[in-house]
Amino acid sequence: MERIDTELVVLGGGPGGYTAAFYAADCGLQVVLVEKEPSLGGVCLHQGCIPSKALLHAVHSIQLAEEAIQWGIQFEKPKIDFDRLRSWKAQVVDRLAKGITQLAQRRKVQVLQGKGTFIDASTLQVRSEQGESLIHFQHAIVATGSEPMIPKGFPQNHPRILTSTKALELPIVPRKLLIIGAGYIGMELGTVYAGLGSAVTVVELLPNILPQADPDLVRPILQAARRRFHAIHLAAKVTALFPEQDRVRVQIESQGQTVEEVFDAVLIAVGRRPCTQNLGLSQVGIGTAEKGFVVVNEKLQTTVPHIYAIGDVAGGLMLAHKAAREARIAVDAILGKPVSRQFVVPAVVFTDPELAWCGLTETEARSRGIPFETVKFPWSASGRAHTCNRTDGWTKLLVDPQTDRLLGAGIVGYGASELIGEAVFALEHQARAKDLARVLHPHPTLSETLMECAELYYGVATHALRRKRPS
Ligand code: NAI
Repeated sequence: MERIDTELVVLGGGPGGYTAAFYAADCGLQVVLVEKEPSLGGVCLHQGCIPSKALLHAVHSIQLAEEAIQWGIQFEKPKIDFDRLRSWKAQVVDRLAKGITQLAQRRKVQVLQGKGTFIDASTLQVRSEQGESLIHFQHAIVATGSEPMIPKGFPQNHPRILTSTKALELPIVPRKLLIIGAGYIGMELGTVYAGLGSAVTVVELLPNILPQADPDLVRPILQAARRRFHAIHLAAKVTALFPEQDRVRVQIESQGQTVEEVFDAVLIAVGRRPCTQNLGLSQVGIGTAEKGFVVVNEKLQTTVPHIYAIGDVAGGLMLAHKAAREARIAVDAILGKPVSRQFVVPAVVFTDPELAWCGLTETEARSRGIPFETVKFPWSASGRAHTCNRTDGWTKLLVDPQTDRLLGAGIVGYGASELIGEAVFALEHQARAKDLARVLHPHPTLSETLMECAELYYGVATHALRRKRPS
């Protein structure tokens, strides 16, 4: 049995864990990074963000080719070589995974493959096929991420009942695909599979898709999905799944009626749960809350103060970039620097059009009784949007009517994911609408919609008019 002594051990090699390990090493700490899978990168790189975006990009090329007919360019119906598509996606993932491994080596972060379990408050046991190691640490960061949640009573381990992990492998492209849950995963993978030729049906429990976002920004996505998907059932639920050999019989309850339908595959996308089991957390006194999330304080310390938790296991938004920020906060706390968990977290749904937002949503502001004014700039008034044939967008700002401070921003439209960064910067720096309005944006770009939206707040946007001007 190998014995390792280290200043910091990080458990989990996803975007939270490897960011923590790399940042700690850059700050001079001696670091061991433990990952159960053979390669670093976590769910985000191997079964989430990256493969899904590669597939969305591929599907976008099909949609673009279909659209091009409007401006006089006609392509043949695409022939999809699924093996080649899978291997291209795998190459993207492999390239990035190798890059992370090299970055770890160059920083002298010791990467240990195996399953880690705390056996006491300063020892992590790591088991792998190669053997067992005991890591004695001064500090630890738990960054073990999350896994798909399967509702009770739904059968598992059937080849035609998929979670996002399996669906991203593109095991088959089913003729008829049912997606349960119209959140991030349901809508993104619905876009992928519909683009590849599946007839996609979505069943969502709540009255709208993407319930985390403001309904006015969700509308263009719903409209696009209604065009591309076979059916979307809102305020509906799947009451039973009956797997058969190559298909799944499904009972769907919608508008007071239960119907039965047969699908070639079912994707369950109803949320994720933290991976906090079998880590020995309770044995060493690390408290977990409802649903298994690790309890942490403002410094991301668990109830055992020299053990920290970050990312999906620590609750809050389950987003890779939030984990990466928390990684730096935890390391700074270990180094004794002052830290704060107050930061603006952008959210992006990579549908087509894309949806991105940060700060307060209207729904949140209203429920918290925070006074705000909303201003919305239509992309039909953007020259750049016309040149891309993508006027199906809106840029929206929430402004404090007393101070003109920006409270939130939301963008729905082509490339919204790339535009939201500016709004995050503005909010993080407590900018006012006039700060955004007076920054010159290049023309013609979609980034101008943020500037013009801020101008519109004062009733002086060049390409749009506002009826009511704030006093
Ligand atoms: P989600 O929380 O985004 O959406 C789940 C949806 O399922 C909700 O709309 C919910 O109302 C619905 N639902 C719950 N139970 C249901 C039931 N029994 N029948 C029908 N609908 C039901 O969760 P999702 O899509 O699984 O994603 C998990 C997490 O992964 C998200 O919280 C997100 O943070 C992260 N993620 C982020 C992405 C991004 O940043 N672009 C992409 C994919 C995932």
